[in-house]
Amino acid sequence: MSDSLPKSKSTLPSRTILSLLLEIAAYAAPRGNKQMRYRIIGAFTCLVLAKSSNIITPLLYGGAVDYVNGDAGFSALVLWYILGAYALSRLGQQIFSEGKEYLFSRVAQRAVRGAAMTAFRHLHLLSMRFHLDRQTGGLTRAIERGAKGMEFIMTSAAFEVVPLLVEVVLVSILLWAMFGWPYAVITFATVAIYALFTVKVTEWRMKFRRQMNKADEQAATKAVDSLINYETVKYFNAEEHEAKRFDVSMRQYEDAAVLSRTSLAAVNIGQGAVIALGLVLIMGIAGHDIQAGKLSVGDFVAVNTYLLQLYLPLNFLGWVYREIRQSLIDLERMFGLLDEHPDVQDKQGAESLRLQEAQIEFKDVHFAYKDRAILKGVSFTVPAGKKVAIVGPSGAGKSTISRLLFRFYDPQKGSIEIDGQNVQDVQQASVRAAIGVVPQDSVMFNASIGYNINYGRAEASQAEIEEAAKLASIDSFIKQLAEGYDALVGERGLKLSGGEKQRVAIARAILKKPSIFLFDEATSALDSQTEKQIQSALNEVSESRTTLIIAHRLSTIVDCDEILVMREGQIAERGTHADLIAIKGLYAAMWARQASGFDIERGQTALYEAAIQQ
Ligand SMILES: Nc1ncnc2c1ncn2[C@@H]1O[C@H](COP(=O)(O)OP(=O)(O)O)[C@@H](O)[C@H]1O
Ligand SMILES: [Mg+2]
Repeated sequence: MSDSLPKSKSTLPSRTILSLLLEIAAYAAPRGNKQMRYRIIGAFTCLVLAKSSNIITPLLYGGAVDYVNGDAGFSALVLWYILGAYALSRLGQQIFSEGKEYLFSRVAQRAVRGAAMTAFRHLHLLSMRFHLDRQTGGLTRAIERGAKGMEFIMTSAAFEVVPLLVEVVLVSILLWAMFGWPYAVITFATVAIYALFTVKVTEWRMKFRRQMNKADEQAATKAVDSLINYETVKYFNAEEHEAKRFDVSMRQYEDAAVLSRTSLAAVNIGQGAVIALGLVLIMGIAGHDIQAGKLSVGDFVAVNTYLLQLYLPLNFLGWVYREIRQSLIDLERMFGLLDEHPDVQDKQGAESLRLQEAQIEFKDVHFAYKDRAILKGVSFTVPAGKKVAIVGPSGAGKSTISRLLFRFYDPQKGSIEIDGQNVQDVQQASVRAAIGVVPQDSVMFNASIGYNINYGRAEASQAEIEEAAKLASIDSFIKQLAEGYDALVGERGLKLSGGEKQRVAIARAILKKPSIFLFDEATSALDSQTEKQIQSALNEVSESRTTLIIAHRLSTIVDCDEILVMREGQIAERGTHADLIAIKGLYAAMWARQASGFDIERGQTALYEAAIQQ
């Protein structure tokens, strides 16, 4: 079973079938939800009634045959009574079945929704570390498949397979009581052999199915990857190459699918043979019993009907068996996600951050991603209402500082405090509520521009949204769009230029009205003209608010209260712009380069390299 599971490094406990079923049950009938329990009881009652009708029907049918055939006097009225009862029992079977569906579908769908919601919420609870290691597509597929699997097990397993097994036992008992043990034994044996054969052959066939799935996933991956890289494909005239790559997987799929279908013939023919044999044996015995006067023609008809009634649904058994197995695998994966623990967690009984003046303090912070040390003892303070800037080469750990403050990760050593409270001791949500971030790479939701700005504070009015947009210098751009604030930004915001995206991100951070601002190269994608414009707006909104600026262009931070120069995980220089110029160190060298107009766009790395080589 496990070999079709994607290989996972985590050592999560695997579940038994029983524990999976218990988990499903917990979602189906949550504690305290009386309505769902009544529905389940009602559905099972309907099921029993439907099956009972199902069992009576052949008897009435046989009774009618005997009555018409009988030697006793014939009365049309009696015949109609019998036929009426026959019709009613057939109809009853249908009505109770539908009643069961009606009562149970709400239970099944509610359970699916509950489990999917739990998994979805949980995914948002998990840490950055988890999400960076996973493929988002894979996670949503896991939820989607898990939910489907759950639905299948609840509807098919609970209401088709189990009742079918019960029916086999009941009919066997009935046949035994009415016609003698050979009937019961043959019926039961036929079903048992049928089931065993189906399971074995299905096991064997599953490898074709797996090959199909694998080829299918590969084809999908290649198709998506090549479409995402649409531009690159065009740059290199690689359409034919991409098509060939895609076709390799499609050919594998074709072969596996043909094998899968061909092998189905073996299943179908084998199943047919088992049933034919069972039927012949029973009908033979019945024929002899009629000859011997032990059975009436009506009994013969009833026995035949029972068998057909039993054997017909068996046809689905192979398919149902395979689906149930697959569903269990998918479910295990979905529930497995719930076992992942977030590594950044609120402490037991953690309270909300009590904001006073919003002073930030880093005390000897050490941090490594896995085993690569990034920060090696970083200490600084952003006093309440002041502005502190961090500069340094790309890869120095500047964004890491902002992620630690926002508590995407916890430092291995040292502490980060806001107003004297360690961010690890208070609720994450309250820390995040206090901070407005403009990240280095702003990604947009695939919705309207207005929606994306509104994301900063859901309850903001349209006027406030437009005000924020004005401050971020994006208002006039939006106004000139045909659809204005309703214009769609495309997936991940791809219809906007880098600078426009940054301005939307700034607008939504402004809208949030946080006590602390965190700008991570927030204006790096803007031209100097627009940057100046926004810079003054940013100065205005962050006036007297605690602000941490990670800067790209030094000209934007000359007014800061303190500037920290990062180098190899430590703060190499610190002071005001004037101080740093005066000591003629790294900062002064970088400044000289940028101020001389030396290709600013080449980025800080080049400048920095140049600076330290001097
Ligand atoms: N999730 C991660 N896992 C491993 N390494 C990371 C991760 N995020 C960033 N890094 C590495 O940490 C270093 C510092 O990154 P970052 O703080 O983003 O630098 P910057 O100063 O350019 O903002 C980089 O070398 C980067 O490759
Ligand atoms: Mg960065």
